[in-house]
Amino acid sequence: MTYTSSTVRVPEVAAVPRHIAIIMDGNGRWATQRRLPRVAGHTRGVDAVRAAVEACARRGVEYLTLFAFSSENWRRPNEEVSFLMRLFVTALEREIGKLHANGIRLRVVGDLERFDEKIRDLIRRAETKTARNTRLTLTIAANYGGRWDIMQATRKLVEQAAAAGKPVEVNEDAFAEHLSMAYAPEPDLFIRTGGERRVSNFLLWQLAYTEFYFTDTFWPDFDADALGHAIASYAERERRFGRTSAQLEPQSQNADSLPC
Ligand code: IPE
Ligand code: IPE
Ligand code: MG
Repeated sequence: MTYTSSTVRVPEVAAVPRHIAIIMDGNGRWATQRRLPRVAGHTRGVDAVRAAVEACARRGVEYLTLFAFSSENWRRPNEEVSFLMRLFVTALEREIGKLHANGIRLRVVGDLERFDEKIRDLIRRAETKTARNTRLTLTIAANYGGRWDIMQATRKLVEQAAAAGKPVEVNEDAFAEHLSMAYAPEPDLFIRTGGERRVSNFLLWQLAYTEFYFTDTFWPDFDADALGHAIASYAERERRFGRTSAQLEPQSQNADSLPC
């Protein structure tokens, strides 16, 4: 398990985020602005996904997590939901070979029960094929909700206790082990495109100490340069995790280790 809780231990930080999580928002408005049907924005959004994956791999980002479909997106018109499902299947079928050739490991998180067997099978095959790749882990959150994730982890803890026939210890590490992204560190940088400033039920537990970056750019226009701006903004942040600025200065760390 790569996951370590930022509230249990202070994580190491570097200028390049290890894990970037993105809410890819604004596809519909991108299309409407061009007098195109909303779904044309989703199609163009796939190109932006490709660009983001390439740029992250080039910059040495280890984990990229993309919110593709939320547990609340079923509330959209049926035609848009079916279009998004078809687009997910075609994009996965088309891109998986290239992802694999580029050393990218694919994971899909979310409540997959609600998807057709055909989609679930495709996901399983893609995950198995790329399982041993180490360059970048690309996670697609599909029918994902932060509350669902917390609920399913809780359910697993309770089941574990029932199977053991005795209460299990409940602490942050034991709980987080059951979260759907237990294989990844918490996101260092959260990006939301499309102008809204909200979390929309994305990684609620894991965003506890994540740096937030909001941009008005619609997702289909979010390119490698735009990602570069987000990473540059991240590099300027002071991540204190509850400590003071003075505690972060190298001399104060040295002072701690000097004999009195
Ligand atoms: C994000 O773009 C894609 C999904 C939620 C699937 P939107 O479709 O939400 O685009 P806007 O926010 O309506 O412009
Ligand atoms: C969040 O975008 C979900 C995804 C990008 C998949 P939404 O467009 O659904 O979010 P709200 O409804 O504006 O909060
Ligand atoms: Mg939206």
